[in-house]
Amino acid sequence: MNLPQSLFERPAVYQKTAAAFWEDEYISSQMLKNHLNPETEGASRKLSFIEESVTFICQTLPPADYPKLLDLGCGPGIYSELLTKAGYQVTGVDFSKRSIEYAKQAAAKQQLEIDYQQQNYLSLNLPEKYDLIIMIYCDFGALSAPDRQIVLQKMLAHLKLGGKILFDVFSLKKFQTIRETKNWHYVLENGFWSPKPYLELQQTLIYPQNITLEQSFILQKNQLTPYNIWTTFFDQHSLANEWKQYPVKVCAWFSDVAGHRDFDQQDTLAVLLEKTTDKT
Ligand SMILES: C[S@@+](CC[C@H](N)C(=O)[O-])C[C@H]1O[C@@H](n2cnc3c(N)ncnc32)[C@H](O)[C@@H]1O
Repeated sequence: MNLPQSLFERPAVYQKTAAAFWEDEYISSQMLKNHLNPETEGASRKLSFIEESVTFICQTLPPADYPKLLDLGCGPGIYSELLTKAGYQVTGVDFSKRSIEYAKQAAAKQQLEIDYQQQNYLSLNLPEKYDLIIMIYCDFGALSAPDRQIVLQKMLAHLKLGGKILFDVFSLKKFQTIRETKNWHYVLENGFWSPKPYLELQQTLIYPQNITLEQSFILQKNQLTPYNIWTTFFDQHSLANEWKQYPVKVCAWFSDVAGHRDFDQQDTLAVLLEKTTDKT
């Protein structure tokens, strides 16, 4: 087998890999299991945290004042369901077919009216505007700098004047604990990446500007499939730089989307923004 040069080179920052991750038929089934396990943090956070987070959202941004809520990257709808039960009119957007299908069925079973849309939020196109937009579990930092600008523009285009945006990112504090590592795993069946046997070569790489790459090469028979997962870590200063040209103001900083303010302790940073003019 000829090994590709890419195995031995550090990819350019935020270089995308061709293989689907969230949308892949098999990987998305593994991710759905992770989302729905109330005790793990694999794809959604633990259910106890999500419940605390929903309580915080309801207290800070009550459904009476912010009735129309857009949940970007809603996954199988764990937040969307709880927020609907709390009184919001929720639209959930995710590009994973498996998650959206699961979310629609789960809502129907519970007779919850939730508008689920299978869309890429980078090309978001919805006919309505919202009072509150959330994007939870650090999706923002998984995007490249140009894509982060696109998602902010999409949010603002779908937000009413005076509407709010709540989202979180991984913190610089967490970045400081990360080291470059290399690992391999030999998996015989039903692993994360494939139901068939594979060898995984895995590495964590650190890039300038507080960026990491978690890279996996999956080797199967004559095929080598790379997956790049990028993260940018932020502090308040670098995160505020992201929206400096947009009509928003910071209402509050939190250390997570449950409203804590343990800035010296937490792996995350969360911000609540308000749209200040309608010129987007
Ligand atoms: C880390 S999970 C968080 C799910 C949910 N917000 C939660 O906290 O339970 C990220 C979600 O974003 C979705 N996602 C990632 N990139 C997306 C994109 N470009 N457009 C739409 N959804 C996306 C994934 O399919 C996944 O469901």
